[in-house]
Amino acid sequence: KKGEAWSARFSEPVSDLVKRYTASVFFDKRLALFDIEGSLAHAEMLHAQAIISPADYAEIQRGMAQISQEIAAGQFEWLLDLEDVHLNIEKRLTELVGDAGKRLHTGRSRNDQVATDIRLYVRSAIDDITALLATLRGALTDLAEQHADTIMPGFTHMQVAQPITFGHHMLAYVEMFGRDAERMADTRKRVNRLPLGAAALAGTTFPIDRLRVAKTLGFDDVCHNSLDAVSDRDFAIEFCAASAVLMMHVSRMAEELVIWMSPRIGFIDIADRFCTGSSIMPQKKNPDVPELARGKTGRVYGHLIGLLTLMKGQPLAYNKDNQEDKEPLFDTVDTVIDTLRIFADMAGGITVKPEAMRAAALQGYATATDLADYLVKKGLPFRDAHEAVALAVRACVDAGCDLADLSLEQLRAFSPLTGEDVFEVLTLEGSVAARDHVGGTAPRQVREAIARVRTQLGR
Ligand code: ARG
Repeated sequence: KKGEAWSARFSEPVSDLVKRYTASVFFDKRLALFDIEGSLAHAEMLHAQAIISPADYAEIQRGMAQISQEIAAGQFEWLLDLEDVHLNIEKRLTELVGDAGKRLHTGRSRNDQVATDIRLYVRSAIDDITALLATLRGALTDLAEQHADTIMPGFTHMQVAQPITFGHHMLAYVEMFGRDAERMADTRKRVNRLPLGAAALAGTTFPIDRLRVAKTLGFDDVCHNSLDAVSDRDFAIEFCAASAVLMMHVSRMAEELVIWMSPRIGFIDIADRFCTGSSIMPQKKNPDVPELARGKTGRVYGHLIGLLTLMKGQPLAYNKDNQEDKEPLFDTVDTVIDTLRIFADMAGGITVKPEAMRAAALQGYATATDLADYLVKKGLPFRDAHEAVALAVRACVDAGCDLADLSLEQLRAFSPLTGEDVFEVLTLEGSVAARDHVGGTAPRQVREAIARVRTQLGR
């Protein structure tokens, strides 16, 4: 027991502070079921290779089944004295099945054991996140469909640029979250390799069958170098990097929701169940969920930098530093999963206010580019058309009116090429409908994009 000393080699126990400082059980117990899964696969192989007896293997299976039950029932007693999840489970196994439990660790080290556990954990997190990204994309696509024709101003530099549809705007995020899912899928390929068999760092003298264990655990391959297998955590860093990019997308969307919900803009309302009030100002309804998501993005970035820094100075192979990989990783997974779940839910709680969006699009000369394009189609070089429309906008600013408020006579003063048909291109509907190509904002294209995403999502 660690409370006493590690082994006969030690002459004194560690202090309580050192024990607490070096222990990880209170956070790595979250790996318990993966640890058991890995141990059972290892034991199965030891038995198949005649390294342990069939009776020992049966006993290990029996003990692990009971331990799994105890953990599920919340009855398993986790002991700080036993340092980590691995030693806690192994100790209990030995209590339950005796010598068979002591044979489990043959040809294995906690170094390859923990590397295996974390890979199983990250793989499962990736699968959960991938499913949630699909749910979120589906919810945003539903919202886009309801508003394939709803016109709003599109912005550059936060200034009104050109009219777009709200559906098109939502589909921009659907694209981003689609790439996030691709990044997760790509990361998964490198996560899904088996470290077990590397033992402490150099491999083992027992006639193990690593491919057999890989197959049992659903890994695509084994790690091909034992030193690399136990010491590298680049797969976890890659996962955190993909998570950081994902959260960056969430945060941009959160930022827009906050801005849109400001009464000064008033483009949307968010259902009360995602908002909170103020303890002093009775009138307040604050978009706390998007604000918190924007804030939590910072901690996910922090975990990425934390892990990169954790690894950068470590000589090969395993060092205890690696125990510090877990809390950042776990918090990244928790944060991303909670955020995606709440955003998928919140998408259905967004009420769009088309009148406010339309009114904003009507201000700010959103169709000025359409007027310039119109003149180009009548034969004017684009740069001259740009200048003619700039003069028209300036006149409107002075007069306090919109381009569509000018008479044909007034418009012809800026370019004699202007005809009766000009008023069609100055409407918001005409403007969006005219951008009718793949990736454009025309409602027809938005509907095609929605169909494409639905096919991708299989719904
Ligand atoms: N708790 C350790 C970790 O998380 C397990 C591996 C410990 N190995 C060792 N040689 N101390 O990394």
